[in-house]
Amino acid sequence: MSAQPNRADLEALWLPFTANRQFKANPRLLAKAEGMHYWTHDGRKILDGVAGLWCVNAGHGRQEIVEAVSRQIATMEYAPPFQMGHPLAFELANRLVELTPGDLDHVFFTNSGSESVDTALKIAIAYQRLRGEGTRQRLIGREKGYHGVGFGGISVGGMVNNRKFFGSMLPGVDHLRHTLDLEHNAFTRGLPEWGAHLADDLERLVALHDASTIAAVIVEPVAGSAGVVLPPKGYLQKLRAICDKYGILLIFDEVITGFGRLGAPFGAQYFDVMPDIVTTAKGLTNGAIPMGAVFVRKHIYEAFMQGPENAIELFHGYTYSAHPVACAAALATQEIYRRDALLTRGAQLAKQWEDAVHSLRGLPNVIDIRNLGLVAGIELQSRTGAPGARAYDVFLKAYEKGILIRFTGDILALSPPLIIEPKQIDELVGTLAEVIRATA
Ligand SMILES: Cc1ncc(COP(=O)(O)O)c(C=O)c1O
Repeated sequence: MSAQPNRADLEALWLPFTANRQFKANPRLLAKAEGMHYWTHDGRKILDGVAGLWCVNAGHGRQEIVEAVSRQIATMEYAPPFQMGHPLAFELANRLVELTPGDLDHVFFTNSGSESVDTALKIAIAYQRLRGEGTRQRLIGREKGYHGVGFGGISVGGMVNNRKFFGSMLPGVDHLRHTLDLEHNAFTRGLPEWGAHLADDLERLVALHDASTIAAVIVEPVAGSAGVVLPPKGYLQKLRAICDKYGILLIFDEVITGFGRLGAPFGAQYFDVMPDIVTTAKGLTNGAIPMGAVFVRKHIYEAFMQGPENAIELFHGYTYSAHPVACAAALATQEIYRRDALLTRGAQLAKQWEDAVHSLRGLPNVIDIRNLGLVAGIELQSRTGAPGARAYDVFLKAYEKGILIRFTGDILALSPPLIIEPKQIDELVGTLAEVIRATA
């Protein structure tokens, strides 16, 4: 494709989560990446404010990953994961369970966040059945939750456009109230003080459905895709306590919060709340090769390891589970995270990050700013009758000015690679301030 693509060259591709016709009229093509930057097809340098899509945590173009992937693809490009194994899969599993808290010490490999979520939901229901609680088939998600795009994920998810077009969801799913409340919490720095009681909504659902029908609750410790929705102080602890009280499994969807986003390896450690199952993807391989992982606590794994030794314990898996090239990418990524202490770097930058993003307060149309670790959400007042239009304008102008950000509805989201330097934080937020002013 030439440097300036013509419309016909763009036609065949159906882009995901994109306004296809609007995009094809004004395409934004990325051609190269290194460190904190992308370069566009026409050679402009773009500061990456979103780690690609919340995944390139170690920054772009990491040579160690390139080499590991090249080596592995030349040595053995594929190995079947059913009834067979290969050394890198075990090495990676051992390495990852060193990072997870407590006895989250078994891992099942997938290829994406959506697959991790479906895997976790299936394990939860099957686990309840194995422990003699087969009536527990109900799954509880949360409004504004995003758990990928499989039918399991959209069923427990709580974003209306991801659900309304697709007919019947999984039966027996219910949702907790979300925790976004601008009236009480606008412009809070870090975790909101108000709203721990929202976890009591689980008591309401238990009273409605009875605990004997509920297998698991799934939440993102920090909701990313819905526009950076933070848990109020004490909320997750309360949710854990209610789950314990009623024998309900707690699943943390850490596809975004996993691998250092909050300044700890996982959100579970950041919040000091122990989930039963954790879903991950994205930062696992630095986005270089698709891969996801589901971590389960020892008692869950052990519950499956009963019965005859020749019996398959879980009728679930993917052709590309523990794909050797993905394992190589993940191992190289984890080594970079360890060597450069990236999984805790966010904690050192968090205060500067917070100050920087809150400097946007007072700019035109900014009605809330939310931050934690190296994540921020900046909510803009929607234009009357045109939800999302204002944020789209900001996104576009920002791209023209050389920064890549995300938007969902009228909320801007920032989640830079964890290698970001202090002066790049200033550049990112400074440019965004200019753009918000210019589009007012
Ligand atoms: C919390 C969460 N779960 C699941 C997913 C889905 O991941 P994937 O797009 O890799 O299927 C995402 C993606 O953004 C996510 O943020």
